[in-house]
Amino acid sequence: MAFLTGALRGQDLNLHVIRARSRVRSIWRFVHGYRSLYLVALLLLAVAALARSSFAWVIKTFTDDVLLPGNYDRIPLMGLYFLGLAAAAGLLTFLGGRLAAQTAEGVTRRLRVFLYDHLQHLPFAYHDRMQTGDLIQRSSSDVEEIRRLFAEHLMGLSRIVSMSSMAFVAMWQLSPRLALVSAIVIPISVGVSFGFWSYLARIYDLFQDQEARLSSLLQENIYGARVVRAFAREQYEIAKFERENAILLNRGRNVVRFHNVFWPSMDLILASQMVGSTLFGAWMAIDGQISMGTYVAFTGLLGLMVGPVRHLGRIFAFITQSLVSYERVLAIINEDREPLDAGLVDMPQELAGDVRFEDVSFIYPEGTQDRPGESTLPGVLHGISFHAEPGQVIAILGPTGSGKTSMMNLLPRFYAYTGGRILLDGRELTEYPRRQLRRHIGVVQQEPFLFSRSIRENITYGTFRKVSEAEIVAAAEAANIHESILDMPRGYDTVVGEQGVTLSGGQRQRVAIARTILKDPRILILDDATSAVDTSTEKAIREALRNLMRNRTTFVIAHRISSIASADRILVLDQGRIVQTGTHEELVAQAGTYRDVFRLQTSIEAELQADIQSTLEAQPA
Ligand SMILES: Nc1ncnc2c1ncn2[C@@H]1O[C@H](COP(=O)(O)OP(=O)(O)OP(=O)(O)O)[C@@H](O)[C@H]1O
Ligand SMILES: [Mg+2]
Repeated sequence: MAFLTGALRGQDLNLHVIRARSRVRSIWRFVHGYRSLYLVALLLLAVAALARSSFAWVIKTFTDDVLLPGNYDRIPLMGLYFLGLAAAAGLLTFLGGRLAAQTAEGVTRRLRVFLYDHLQHLPFAYHDRMQTGDLIQRSSSDVEEIRRLFAEHLMGLSRIVSMSSMAFVAMWQLSPRLALVSAIVIPISVGVSFGFWSYLARIYDLFQDQEARLSSLLQENIYGARVVRAFAREQYEIAKFERENAILLNRGRNVVRFHNVFWPSMDLILASQMVGSTLFGAWMAIDGQISMGTYVAFTGLLGLMVGPVRHLGRIFAFITQSLVSYERVLAIINEDREPLDAGLVDMPQELAGDVRFEDVSFIYPEGTQDRPGESTLPGVLHGISFHAEPGQVIAILGPTGSGKTSMMNLLPRFYAYTGGRILLDGRELTEYPRRQLRRHIGVVQQEPFLFSRSIRENITYGTFRKVSEAEIVAAAEAANIHESILDMPRGYDTVVGEQGVTLSGGQRQRVAIARTILKDPRILILDDATSAVDTSTEKAIREALRNLMRNRTTFVIAHRISSIASADRILVLDQGRIVQTGTHEELVAQAGTYRDVFRLQTSIEAELQADIQSTLEAQPA
């Protein structure tokens, strides 16, 4: 069947094509590959409606030719007609529903895959400005809402439209006058539905926004459960949640209130129509303008025509809800991906790792969709210039918030610098495709993230080839984590986090280091890799890092001078500017921030040592 192969082809559709000014156009593109399937589904519904309204003809014949003249012989035939029509209507509706469900499943499956892929490709700046809870809601419940749009709501709409119009046509054939009188209410109720409809769209939008807020809050609190406990802020968080929840309740009530007003009004309008038409038809029958059979058939058709209109409002409401969801998902689809493979030149096979910053400045992009690229945020980096030769170790020191992480995030092009140039092996960074660039750069982040998968999977995460057990162990040994892994319940197969073992900060960091060792990058960025650990672990990590840094251009961000004293060059950063630069010896020899910090740190450490010493000596033997 042609439409089935079409459906299969449609799975590869790049959903970017659904970008369109008009919503109808974009939804139509959205079902690309499933269009014939869906049209057949709609057609089946229309034929089912035809079968249903054909009942009127059977009833009329039955009344006029069988019932009133007392024609026993034709009763079985009439019975067969009834049965046949009922069976046909049922079967067609069932088939239509099946095809619609198939379309909906296919479309949403494709949507889910696309969204997952798309979210992985959106730039850092996008994730900075979006809340995780919101994104999760959009890619789960909003997607489900879109499934229902195709599987239920649009089908419902077409069922109503085809049923009412078929019934109208059938009624017209009985008596045009009766048909017109009975249809008066339809434009009125459609008008009322539309009025309420647009109102509901607004209040439902508010409701959904609040729902997203609440889910973000919930998620943050589950994530940050430890922080909440540690600061004893449970009451505060609960109160905050209750406040937001109350707003949600209120907005939910508004939606309910809407329904409470809408349905009775709708029923009143429709009931008056039914009563009015029935009386009018009765008058025509008594008056002899129509036969008794026509009257009976008419009352049946009246129900078929007016009845579905009652649900028009609800379908409108549902479609509105789905369209809100659709818009929310569309907003993600419309975001531009980070062009991972765009570039002017390929990275050299043998990268030397020569990095040069020339007067680099940077401002975080402020995330609004209307004004991409513009920012009113204060600049984070100003006039940064330095040169890192291949294999050198460059240390970066500076108070918190001085821009160390931001500076290093420019190198893998996580963010785009806003001024100056960064050169890698003599070419500007922007000439290289991001994907290739990132394969050559290893980052051990300030707070390394491990997946809830086995330690083995976490360690091999950055490699794109089959890795032997020996290599994994070698990397773990170099990162000084092998022994600790062996102590874990299932060794390298131990699952990290949630359902598995919780790793300490230092262990996490060393797993991240092993991961980077295995990745084997030419350029290495270590963001405060020893901040989360005690001194003996720090020593272990520093040893691990020394193994890692060999033959690589390395950037080390550190707060402790002791861990960077051996660097080839130290950059001291303050408020986004390099205020001092040189080797440890040079910097200690000149007055400035570095020497102050150095003296402070050594005197604190000396004091600490003395304290420990005296405490130990004071202990009775
Ligand atoms: N994603 C972001 N969006 C907007 N501003 C940011 C973002 N990340 C950091 N900043 C701002 O940029 C400045 C520098 O932050 P950065 O994280 O680079 O500091 P840092 O030197 O690494 O500090 P720390 O030592 O605490 O890690 C800060 O003022 C911070 O508020
Ligand atoms: Mg930082």
